[in-house]
Amino acid sequence: MPQIFRDPSFDSTLDVLREGYPFLYCRSQRFNSDIFQIRLMGLKAICLHGAEAAELFYNPRLFVRKGAVPRRVQTTLMGIDAIQTRDNGEHRCRKEMFMSLMGPESRERLMSLLAEQWQRYAHRWEQQDRVVLFREAQEILCRAACAWAEVPLPEPEVSKRARDFGAMVDGFGGVGPRHWRGKQARRRGEKWMRGIIRAIRKGALPVQEGTAAHTVAWHREPNGELLDVQMAAIELVNAIRPIVAIATYITFAALALHEYPPYRQLLRNPAEDYPELFVQEVRRYFPFTPFVGALVREDFSWHGFEFAKGTLVLLDVYGTNRDERWWQDPEVFWPERFRQWQRSPYDFIPQGGGEFLTGHRCAGEWITIEALKQAVAFLNDGIRYDVPAQDLTYDLTRMPTLPASGFVMTNVRATG
Ligand code: HEM
Repeated sequence: MPQIFRDPSFDSTLDVLREGYPFLYCRSQRFNSDIFQIRLMGLKAICLHGAEAAELFYNPRLFVRKGAVPRRVQTTLMGIDAIQTRDNGEHRCRKEMFMSLMGPESRERLMSLLAEQWQRYAHRWEQQDRVVLFREAQEILCRAACAWAEVPLPEPEVSKRARDFGAMVDGFGGVGPRHWRGKQARRRGEKWMRGIIRAIRKGALPVQEGTAAHTVAWHREPNGELLDVQMAAIELVNAIRPIVAIATYITFAALALHEYPPYRQLLRNPAEDYPELFVQEVRRYFPFTPFVGALVREDFSWHGFEFAKGTLVLLDVYGTNRDERWWQDPEVFWPERFRQWQRSPYDFIPQGGGEFLTGHRCAGEWITIEALKQAVAFLNDGIRYDVPAQDLTYDLTRMPTLPASGFVMTNVRATG
């Protein structure tokens, strides 16, 4: 029986924080193995890398999520006991609720709300000396996401709410003040959404059927009960907060346009869906989710390696997207590679892999792709701008990361 290679470090928790995104990837290369073992916060964790291992990880018969997500991630990023931590029928029922919001009409509505906001902001930027794209994109996405969900967002609150959704995401990999800010932001966000859910249920806030606010407020669990108010608030945040998080990819897309100007022309070629290739490469090349975790459901073995019930297993998201066996020259930004991509649900997993309904693959992947395509078209043709000297480096040891300046633009002119 083969033995899983063990990292010699007694406990890797500090190394994960010190090394950031490449931590798992570096070790899978060093040990020349798709599977190895580390200790994390004193517990044994099996680490998996690559498409074949992702296929294993996304087999819902082999893994569960309950108990796998650290509390510090739940109190910032996703909320306590939310869909991400559910299994079996409970998960399926919750996932159907989220996927019901992702149909073509609903997505189109979101895209047209977003288009309106990009236009509005473009004219506003013409009056400003400098614009930090990341912050502006967060507001644009927050306004559109709340309108799409039918969550009223009073004008004076826009900036605060957008920042709070951002802080929830920013808090997941942070320690100290960054983590604390994420927790505070989540507390405020959930309180706000509890008010919304109560108002809808009392009939005081009319919302259309099919919107996120209506769907979550009236969703019934497999036992026929409505979600309790707190859980409904958490899941409503889970429908809006990740839309605001697309600001990170938009900022990276702006960086890619800036660093590789020849793509500006290719993006305008009507003969090919080049924007699709471009945004897929943005999602592959730039880091966002470092890894995801699950617990072994029952004992099983894979290629002779033993997986004991209850063991924590981590899947290397960052490294799988740069696996040389699937991605030639992975450290080169090269959208054309996606012409050959076979659309496997396991070799390209920036938002998780596997199936949507039966697994934990991100419910918002289509929205993310469409919103990114729209933002790239806007940055390419909707405005002209200068990019002054600034620090555009991003730190791989910080999770989540971002170009340090947030991408500053000056002299913005709307073309439309
Ligand atoms: C799950 C990433 C955008 C809703 C996930 C997962 C990742 C992810 C890595 C977990 C996969 C796993 O556990 O195996 C991202 C990134 C986004 C994004 C990087 C871009 C900013 C969105 C959007 C929405 C959304 C726009 C919805 C409006 C969800 C939901 C889940 C999820 C509901 C839980 C799925 C489940 O547990 O079954 N996302 N996501 N995400 N995402 Fe996203």
